[in-house]
Amino acid sequence: MASPSHCSCSSRLAHQRCLVFFLGFLTQMLVVTSDTNSQDAAALNALATLWKDTPSNWRSSDPCGDNWVGIECNNESRVTSISLSSLGLKGTLTGDIQYLTELQALDLSYNKGLTGGLPSSIGSLSKLVNLILVGCSFSGKIPYEIGSLSLLTFLSLNSNSFTGSIPSSIGNLSNLYWLDLADNKLSGTIPVSPGLDSLTHTKHFHFGMNQLSGIIPSKIFSSNMQLIHVLFDNNNLSGSIPPTLGLVKTLEVLRLDMNSLTGPVPSHLNNLTKVAELHLANNQLMGPLPNLTGMSALSFVDMSNNSFDESDVPSWFSTLPSLTSLYLEYSRIGGQIPPAIFNYSPLQTVKLKGNRFNGSLDVSAIENSQLELIDLQDNNISSIVLGGGYSKKLILVGNPACDQHNDLAYCKIPQLSAPSYSTPQNCVPVACASDQNLSPNCTCAYPYTGTLYFRSPSYSDLQNTTYYHILERELKASFLNEVPVDSVSLNNSFVNSFDNLEMNLQVFPSGKTSFSEVDVSRLGFILSNQTFKPTSIFGPFYFIGQAYPAAHEIAMSKKSNHLPVIIGAAAGAAALALVLIGCAAFVITQRTKVKRTAERRQASGSWNFTKGSSSSSSIPQLKGARHFSFNDIKKCTNNFSEANEIGDGGYGKVYKGVLNNGQLVAVKRAQEGSTQGVLEFNTEVELLSRVHHKNLVSLVGFCFDQDEQILVYDYVPNGTLKESLSGKSGVRLDWKRRLRVVLGAARGLAYLHELASPPIVHRDIKPSNILLDENLNAKVSDFGLSKPLGDKKKGHVSTQVKGTMGYLDPEYYMTQQLTEKSDVYSFGVLLLELITAKKPIEHGRYVVREVRLTMDKSKDLYGLHELIDPALGLGNRLGGFEKFVELAMKCVEESGIDRPTMGEVVKEIENIMQLAGMNPNADSASNSMSYAGASRSPVRHPYSNESFDYSGTEPSSRLEPK
Ligand SMILES: *[C@@H]1O[C@H](CO)[C@@H](O)[C@H](O)[C@H]1NC(C)=O
Ligand SMILES: *[C@@H]1O[C@H](CO)[C@@H](O)[C@H](O)[C@H]1NC(C)=O
Ligand SMILES: *[C@@H]1O[C@H](CO)[C@@H](O)[C@H](O)[C@H]1NC(C)=O
Ligand SMILES: *[C@@H]1O[C@H](CO)[C@@H](O)[C@H](O)[C@H]1NC(C)=O
Repeated sequence: MASPSHCSCSSRLAHQRCLVFFLGFLTQMLVVTSDTNSQDAAALNALATLWKDTPSNWRSSDPCGDNWVGIECNNESRVTSISLSSLGLKGTLTGDIQYLTELQALDLSYNKGLTGGLPSSIGSLSKLVNLILVGCSFSGKIPYEIGSLSLLTFLSLNSNSFTGSIPSSIGNLSNLYWLDLADNKLSGTIPVSPGLDSLTHTKHFHFGMNQLSGIIPSKIFSSNMQLIHVLFDNNNLSGSIPPTLGLVKTLEVLRLDMNSLTGPVPSHLNNLTKVAELHLANNQLMGPLPNLTGMSALSFVDMSNNSFDESDVPSWFSTLPSLTSLYLEYSRIGGQIPPAIFNYSPLQTVKLKGNRFNGSLDVSAIENSQLELIDLQDNNISSIVLGGGYSKKLILVGNPACDQHNDLAYCKIPQLSAPSYSTPQNCVPVACASDQNLSPNCTCAYPYTGTLYFRSPSYSDLQNTTYYHILERELKASFLNEVPVDSVSLNNSFVNSFDNLEMNLQVFPSGKTSFSEVDVSRLGFILSNQTFKPTSIFGPFYFIGQAYPAAHEIAMSKKSNHLPVIIGAAAGAAALALVLIGCAAFVITQRTKVKRTAERRQASGSWNFTKGSSSSSSIPQLKGARHFSFNDIKKCTNNFSEANEIGDGGYGKVYKGVLNNGQLVAVKRAQEGSTQGVLEFNTEVELLSRVHHKNLVSLVGFCFDQDEQILVYDYVPNGTLKESLSGKSGVRLDWKRRLRVVLGAARGLAYLHELASPPIVHRDIKPSNILLDENLNAKVSDFGLSKPLGDKKKGHVSTQVKGTMGYLDPEYYMTQQLTEKSDVYSFGVLLLELITAKKPIEHGRYVVREVRLTMDKSKDLYGLHELIDPALGLGNRLGGFEKFVELAMKCVEESGIDRPTMGEVVKEIENIMQLAGMNPNADSASNSMSYAGASRSPVRHPYSNESFDYSGTEPSSRLEPK
């Protein structure tokens, strides 16, 4: 808890605090009337009363206004998204859900306590785009009405207990991209016409681990289909594999194993040259062994345990260039094994048990160091040529070659218990409290945990740590986009009885011992929504998370639950008293309010909820800055340790710090003797205490002590826009993200110009002064040079010219008359920089002039191809690019009068975003859970093609074996 003594308040600010209080009171009055649309509020409250263990702040009657954990609302205070992954909810999903008619995303994944059937009225949610119920305990039939959700792109009902058959109405979901029904108790046949054959946009058919029966209808495949993953494994399907499968040229993973399929495999299976993983094992397939010649992407083949005709060693055996794993047990193959097979490919595992191989086995020339296992048990091999070539596992038990040699290593069944991988700890292990775990980084914390299941990896060597390291890195990067994560740990990997590669995952929080509820729902969402896309060597995956609220969390959230309510009431009552008896009661109330804010922060972890709905963000809020003692600051930055240093500028250094209440802060310490600093320091404290907007960096406090000038800000984790543009920060800014960032920056500036009173000119707009928070929301920072425009009528002040070369308004430079339009000019330069990712002046060339001279409106992208940042990907559609250039050029008009106002700039960027297929209000206007990365925005699903500017198609990230 925040100790009030730690952040003792300076009496200088008492007057200001009085104002803070009045404003707080006013806001409270507004809130009482409830922001949330009443129908939505009623529906959510109805659901909440039926659920146990709802998030800790689900108490009020105003979900939108009070930032209920997991709830997102739009401008009209309608609920658009519910995201409650892994929060330990218990109860049933009732028909009340139907009243949330603006709902676009519903993620209830990994709540094992959610039971009962899906209400058929779910079909009324006509705006639903994502429906994610993976890993709950829902049962009963999948309602037919699900077929009315015509906008649905992502449907994940896997790992529940659904029974009955797949409703044919799913065929109506023409926008569906991802269909996962695996791991249920579904029975009956696969529906077609009407049914799944009309899903021509769907890429994923995941139906494995059910009890589906009947044939695989030939209609289900056609050349119109875009399927990349067809997973029908572990069912009771019978009949033969339909020849139409050969028409689905996009196919990459095919699992038909563990069914009762019969008949011959279609002869042109090898037309499917993109298939990397082919599983046909454990059926009763007949006829000739499939001819896989030409399947150059094929990595993993398992066709064991079928009833193929007797055959000789097939010619394709040693010609598949990507093969890592060849499993053909009990396949009646005879002849001598060509030694070439072992060297031709990146082979790791060869399992050919129970065939008729004969002659001599030659492993003397094996140079392939990745080969780990050759299992040739129960064949007819009469002798072996060992040489010195191969020293890994070889099993010849049950061959004539072993008749006389039972004592030789290869004539014994080796212990195959693979030592299981565990992410190593990079330190001397320390003992943790009994209920905490040690992270690979040696901090004790409560990890978010669960199990990852890879349904069809393209490798079989489970001991090669390279694969785990890739996963660790990719997982961490994916989480870090949205949640502060210290490290991830993997352990206990094995192949389970469904032929899925299973392993445990632990995710550790950064800078604190436990995740907040919001963190948890986000972590769960990243995995349930497949925002995390591992390199395709891992193939399709799913994840089952565990409910996070460990005992401590519940205890903690219970504590902080009641406080806001009680204290809120206290503040309300005190306010009334105040109206009656004046300022006497003031000090007490104020202290309570500070505490309440601290409690709120605590409850929401490191997320600082800012309310973005227009009503609150347009009221300039006075926000008292705390005064810190120098000792406080020393403590929270670990004595300005180098490890905590996150920035270094002309003004001084910036450190990361943690306050007593766990809040992360950025501490900017002025260099000694920097005289200019004093002025800038005061300006910044004054201005930032006065303005508050979600797109302006927020000042937590300051220290003016022992000759030190220190500013303490809310920590903004993703660095500056400049770092991102230069690729330094690791945050990739595609076109859509850039648009979202400039929209935020423009809104921040528009606020300064148009809503702050008096208006403020920033005077130093440039990418290094735009910070990006964990959601890539832009935060305008560095107000050291900012200037209030005192005399409104005059509209300008005469000042000494300050700013940064390249961004400086030439008119201001000539006349020394400062107006808001100077910021507009700088902003225009910034817009151009976003296109080019180059400094405005480089090698003597000025970007404004370059663009003006090069621009040719008759050409595509206005002929600016040469200047465009390659990282934007010219192959991608840059929707609204031309309008963007036009806007930038208007901002850098010679004369201020000709430039738009920031308010106009905001409007135009919103228009441009629409041209780019984005909803300008989806993220920024919604409340807490807005994600810049489009990953959370329900409309743009990472797995839906256009959306994600990952490079489009999936196979691009495949690690090609050499
Ligand atoms: C598949 O290959 C066969 C011959 O190998 C050919 O006759 C057939 O047209 C091909 N099918 C498609 C869909 O390309
Ligand atoms: C397998 O297919 C390839 C090309 O499609 C062909 O050249 C080869 O003869 C076939 N092999 C068998 C055994 O049919
Ligand atoms: C582990 O896998 C990687 C990637 O496939 C490969 O480059 C490396 O050689 C493998 N290491 C061993 C020891 O087999
Ligand atoms: C350990 O934690 C630090 C700070 O949170 C982080 O930068 C680093 O990458 C972590 N190391 C590992 C192995 O995850």
